[in-house]
Amino acid sequence: MEEAIVSLVVERISDLLIHEAVFLKDVKDQVESLRAELKRMQCFLKDADHNLEQDARFQNRVSEIRDLAYDAEDVIDSFILKAAYQRGSHGIVKRFTSTFTKPYHLHKIGVQVKAIKTKLQNISKNLPAFEIPGDGEGSSSIFKVQQRLGRAYSHVEEEDVVSLEVSTKDVMTKLMTEEDRSHAVVSIVGMGGLGKTTLARKVYNHVDVRRHFDFLAWFSISQQCKPREVLLSVLKKVLSPSNDEREKIEKMDEIELTRTLFDALKEKRYLVVLDDIWRSEDWDILKPAFPRGRKGSKILFTTRIKNVASRADPWSTPMELPLLTDDERWNLLCKKAFPRSKMGSQCCSEEFVKLGKEMVKKCGGLPLAIVVLGGLLATEQSLAQWERVHKNIHGHLNELSHQDRKYGAVNRILVSSYNALPYPLKPCFLYLSHYPEDWEIPKKELIRLWIAEGFIPENKEFVMEDLGEKFLEELIDRSLVQVSRRDYTGTNVETCRMHDLLRDLCMKKAREEKFVEIIQQPLHELEVTLAESMLRRISIHPTRLQLWSVGLDGLSYSPHGVYGWYGWSVVVGGLSSLPKWACICLLMLHVSLDVGDLEPEGIQSGHGEYFWVEKRDWFS
Ligand SMILES: Nc1ncnc2c1ncn2[C@@H]1O[C@H](COP(=O)(O)OP(=O)(O)OP(=O)(O)O)[C@@H](O)[C@H]1O
Ligand SMILES: [Mg+2]
Repeated sequence: MEEAIVSLVVERISDLLIHEAVFLKDVKDQVESLRAELKRMQCFLKDADHNLEQDARFQNRVSEIRDLAYDAEDVIDSFILKAAYQRGSHGIVKRFTSTFTKPYHLHKIGVQVKAIKTKLQNISKNLPAFEIPGDGEGSSSIFKVQQRLGRAYSHVEEEDVVSLEVSTKDVMTKLMTEEDRSHAVVSIVGMGGLGKTTLARKVYNHVDVRRHFDFLAWFSISQQCKPREVLLSVLKKVLSPSNDEREKIEKMDEIELTRTLFDALKEKRYLVVLDDIWRSEDWDILKPAFPRGRKGSKILFTTRIKNVASRADPWSTPMELPLLTDDERWNLLCKKAFPRSKMGSQCCSEEFVKLGKEMVKKCGGLPLAIVVLGGLLATEQSLAQWERVHKNIHGHLNELSHQDRKYGAVNRILVSSYNALPYPLKPCFLYLSHYPEDWEIPKKELIRLWIAEGFIPENKEFVMEDLGEKFLEELIDRSLVQVSRRDYTGTNVETCRMHDLLRDLCMKKAREEKFVEIIQQPLHELEVTLAESMLRRISIHPTRLQLWSVGLDGLSYSPHGVYGWYGWSVVVGGLSSLPKWACICLLMLHVSLDVGDLEPEGIQSGHGEYFWVEKRDWFS
């Protein structure tokens, strides 16, 4: 994520250098070399982004770079703001005028830029001392962890599997339909922990399926696909080689393996399951090893990314696994929380049932979360213990108390979807955390906000709104965002939402990155100390009980300013206190607003829904 942040700053500075070079005068060289230093950092962070379980020293370095990038962004923004103020501009500030080139200001920005650059150089001097392991190397890498988890979770006792009857039937029908074409791929798609592997395993083990195919093989791919390992594993299974032959096979290179496997499968009606595939390129490499085979041969994919499924076989519609219904959730929790051996009279007691039903709601129909919760409850015997879990249900599902592990079981699975995002999508995803729980997010509003925040790069091919739409589609495709409502055509998204547990993860990540801070309680009950330096956005969420009053002067906020300020169902009084803040780019209020107090020029009253505030210097 840090790479995404630094990259946004680099873009902003590049823009400044291109459009405003004339006015930067003597400091242009300094700004240029700051940009070069940040670009260097960007490369370093790209590597860091792939290696998520680094030691604390390494993490500190990465955070320092992010904070300096934020610093640079503030310096540049202050420069733009002052320029705009002197010019008396009330429009969105895009260009400077020559009124703003006073030596004093130029000197100031020069000094600040130099200070940031020196700090960056000091960090960069120390970087070679840190060894950055390559992708997937080392036992603690996220890929290995995920692979281990993938394996651990794929051994579900079949008797514990709930529902899936309809889905099982669907997948089996698709698998056993005898299409006469090569590379017929059936896919199961959905977010992490939804039960794709469980369903695939159930189908794979089904007696009718085993009877239908001459040869079956299963391979768990995960985020880091090693094609050679896949080919070797399937080939060993199909040839059942003697020891000598095995040695020979193991010496083969990828091309030989591909050819041999192709020949071995040619006359068979085969089913090969590629569980948890993440990239189309991986399938492109493996594909030549799989012949048309006997009529009816199939490949079964499980994947979180719909596009990977549709690309593999445009003639086959991927099967989207639904979340569990209320009854199924409860049924699964009972199986896990009250295992038969321990089942005593307590499980029937009303209090347990009531608590259990409330807790299972928090899992939002995600089997993984229910299983984790059930496993926890199974070890807690007393009502008091259940109540303790109930009180901190999200904590139990998502966080671990051990300091060496940042994420609990559920988040550990879900976080891999976030980590695999291309970096321009990371800020877009984190940005969703500022919406309250269960909020139906209007697509148009979201995309406009992304654009205003600078997350959507300018592109010759697409207008920004279209590119924003593509970004959203990609997040939906990767099962990180759910479609809530489509328009009358049934194809275009109108609103979207986030699964609760993904939202938890999103908020956690956003806080870690100082990207958004969420305030969830009325300010008068809360000591709000937003002293956290570099905090970029504040979002104030509604409480269930009431609308509440926010006096913005209640926020003690020190550094340069916040970028965005979002409030939901808030009654805002005293917006005149805004001048306490250095700068604010975006003010979005879903409010019952006491508009009478809205004085600061630059705020455009939008009749109630939300307000956009131009970037301006509230100090001046
Ligand atoms: N229908 C179900 N009945 C009982 N348990 C289930 C069901 N579906 C999933 N589970 C449980 O949830 C856990 C996660 O399921 P699974 O590994 O199949 O998810 P997945 O969709 O393959 O996730 P990922 O995207 O991480 O691979 C499993 O270990 C299993 O215990
Ligand atoms: Mg899986």
